[in-house]
Amino acid sequence: MISFNRKYYNNKKILVTGGAGFIASHFINSLLKGSQAIIFNLDKLGYASDLNRVTGIKNNSNYKFINLDLVDKNKIKELLPNIQPDLIVHFAAESHVDKSILNPEIFIESNILGTFNLLESIRNLLNLYDSKKRKNFKFLHISTDEVYGSLGKDGFFSEKTSYDPRSPYSASKASSDHLVSAWGNTYSIPVIKTNCSNNYGPWQFPEKLIPVVIGNIIKNQKIPIYGDGTNIRDWLFVDDHINAILLVLEKGELGNTYCIGGNNEISNIKLVEIICNEINKLNAKNITFEKLIEFVPDRLGHDKRYAIDSSKIKNELGWEPKFTFKEGIKITVEWYVKNLGKFMEI
Ligand SMILES: NC(=O)c1ccc[n+]([C@@H]2O[C@H](COP(=O)([O-])OP(=O)(O)OC[C@H]3O[C@@H](n4cnc5c(N)ncnc54)[C@H](O)[C@@H]3O)[C@@H](O)[C@H]2O)c1
Repeated sequence: MISFNRKYYNNKKILVTGGAGFIASHFINSLLKGSQAIIFNLDKLGYASDLNRVTGIKNNSNYKFINLDLVDKNKIKELLPNIQPDLIVHFAAESHVDKSILNPEIFIESNILGTFNLLESIRNLLNLYDSKKRKNFKFLHISTDEVYGSLGKDGFFSEKTSYDPRSPYSASKASSDHLVSAWGNTYSIPVIKTNCSNNYGPWQFPEKLIPVVIGNIIKNQKIPIYGDGTNIRDWLFVDDHINAILLVLEKGELGNTYCIGGNNEISNIKLVEIICNEINKLNAKNITFEKLIEFVPDRLGHDKRYAIDSSKIKNELGWEPKFTFKEGIKITVEWYVKNLGKFMEI
């Protein structure tokens, strides 16, 4: 259900950062399946990376993997003129809130310094481009709704919401967003940003909530739930995120931000119940989710509720999520049940 204008992407050289990770690997697979785009996948291959995610396209002549850490300023500066990309989509980031609370430094390095190095290299690159190549160049920065902080019972985040990051992860992403805007404004780099709600889908690293829940139910192990389980997230199936990114990259207005959400607000406790029901259906079992839940002390500074108002991307670019949560979670659960132990230990 990925649909995009292949003509726009055919023969474009696209540098994708973080392509051995969850979301960017879906992006690369979809783009190479549906177009003649030429993809350069740059990743440092950190703990959450897995090149098996892109194994189906590794022999495609339009695909090249580059093992590089964005923290290495000189290497990235050297690389860009060799590739001469038409588009850059920047996914690479340390992405797990819990890890950012335990060890914030790597988040500052990868998410802030890494983005700074990339922007500076782009500034250098664009000086080497002729006016036509420069005019068509775009840099798309992939960010999160967590930069907006935490909502109470009512209201939604939108492009107009003030930044209020509350974890080291969201603060590092907020910083990178500001760098991107500033480099766009000061150095006329053609930038666009997206801020998306929580993604889920096949191949997500099993430190994130949904794969943890699926894995623990399958293994009949306790499911750790922070606090009282009433924290709410707005879940978006990864393919819907990819469709939004492909649309924004082609048609989004330069200098703009687009908020992307699933309109799927679900509390953590309800999420466990839904997933448990799905696994019961699939395996003809009768696991009682209440028995598996183990409430654990709340995450430090745990944001209460995220919810996105996606009107801008819907009205201006015609994007709509295509998957209901029921459809998306079915695909996700089936994938983990099938691939448990094969590709991924959960
Ligand atoms: N997962 C979500 O729910 C979600 C929601 C909204 C936005 N985002 C954003 O989307 C992007 C991708 O998220 P994800 O869930 O796929 O993350 P992920 O952790 O699965 O993958 C991130 C990838 O980036 C790479 N990386 C990190 N630092 C790097 C560096 N310094 N140099 C090169 N590569 C580096 C990692 O090795 C990894 O392969 C992130 O920017 C994240 O903030 C994620």
